[in-house]
Amino acid sequence: MTRKLHIKTYGCQMNVYDSARMTDVLLPLGYQVTDHPDDADMVILNTCHIREKAAEKVYSELGRLNRTKQYRQDQGLDMILAVAGCVAQAEGDEILRRAPFVDLVFGPQTYHNLPEMIARTSRQGGTVLNTDFTVEAKFDHLPETTADSGALDGASAFLTVQEGCDKFCAFCVVPYTRGAEFSRRPAEILEEAHRLVDLGVKEVTLLGQNVNSYHGLSGDEHEWGLGRLIRATSEIAGVERIRYTTSYPADVDDALIAAHRDVEQLMPFLHLPVQSGSDRILKAMNRRHGADDYRALVERLRAARPDLALSSDFIVGFPGETDDDFKATMKLVEDIGFIQAYSFKYSPRPGTPAATLENQIDEALKGERLAILQESLNAQQLAFNKSCVGSVMPVLLDRLGRKAGQMVGRSPFMQPVHVTAPEELFGTIVGLCIEEGKANSLAGSLSEGDISSSRNPKQHKENAA
Ligand code: 5AD
Ligand code: SF4
Repeated sequence: MTRKLHIKTYGCQMNVYDSARMTDVLLPLGYQVTDHPDDADMVILNTCHIREKAAEKVYSELGRLNRTKQYRQDQGLDMILAVAGCVAQAEGDEILRRAPFVDLVFGPQTYHNLPEMIARTSRQGGTVLNTDFTVEAKFDHLPETTADSGALDGASAFLTVQEGCDKFCAFCVVPYTRGAEFSRRPAEILEEAHRLVDLGVKEVTLLGQNVNSYHGLSGDEHEWGLGRLIRATSEIAGVERIRYTTSYPADVDDALIAAHRDVEQLMPFLHLPVQSGSDRILKAMNRRHGADDYRALVERLRAARPDLALSSDFIVGFPGETDDDFKATMKLVEDIGFIQAYSFKYSPRPGTPAATLENQIDEALKGERLAILQESLNAQQLAFNKSCVGSVMPVLLDRLGRKAGQMVGRSPFMQPVHVTAPEELFGTIVGLCIEEGKANSLAGSLSEGDISSSRNPKQHKENAA
């Protein structure tokens, strides 16, 4: 009998990867993926604990699902309701208290045990709670990725190489929910990359909470850093594009910078969270870099790869942030020039050091600062998108658009690009003439021209002019 599975994913790309791997675990049990929770015999919420808003969403969704579950039970149908991910890890007991109708609660490191957990809840009823913490065991026990799992978003796939974090930024829950740093072995990662290519993948994104702290042990017990891993990945025939995320500025080493210089497939786009432009706040945040360290690092990266474009994360209203601190952040934004960014109001998270600091910032002031910062970041993004108009960009077409004949792809700089193109081009990299640059995306048309000369849109535009 086939049973239906619905997974709703919140938060970061690590969760997207984990949801896909949960599917890999459940397909052999006879589950099939459905987009509709109402039809599902099993619903998993793969949750995020990073900010309060993200965590609270889970409880309102659970309320809705409880009604669905009861409705199905009235019709003689069962539904297993599971909470996975970082909320499960951080507040398993709270979930049991606030949502006792949940059947399974399990953290990010235990989902390889799903078959056993499902059997246990079916046998004995009540909630099964599993929030152990050994990452090694998970990767040793996961089945191989399949084309059906959803790890493949068109021709682009995530590959987790590293998990957990030992940095303990004062605001962040990740070290508590994902645990200590752990790097997978290079051979295991490269095998997974080979497999993805065999399944039609052209772009691999190496994932980790702190991906550039990667230090995997090779067969001869040598430590590999991320730079070396990127080089080895680029040698796999069929890997046309490589990305990695998320990086920690203080851990960008020479080998990684050299990879940006030498590895053609490594895309010229880097998400490098800075959080603040004030040294005082960066210190209070327990970041291991100052604002000028960040500036110098960006300079070195750009020297290695002149067309490198940057995105970042910012937090405004960290405890004690003054107007001058905030101005320093605005100055950094101006100095660097980001093509995209995520910015947040500081959200105190239980159990983190910053949550108990006394000099918390007023919510209204956080809101004002966020609006000012976002205006500047949005303007930079729009200016960059507009500067692309007139260039030809290689775009990986990996999503179907809403209208017939429309497709959406990704530029080297991660911009979504809309185009009308024949369906047989789906999953390929095509040259697109960029005709429009909007707030969050580009629009283009198929180009006959050579796409290899268009690494830098600005430069290309000048050439064309
Ligand atoms: N409040 C606001 N933003 C946060 N982030 C992490 N923790 C918090 C918090 N407590 C942001 C950081 C991080 C991104 C993933 O989320 O900017 O880089
Ligand atoms: Fe959180 Fe800092 Fe670790 Fe990133 S580096 S996951 S922000 S503790």
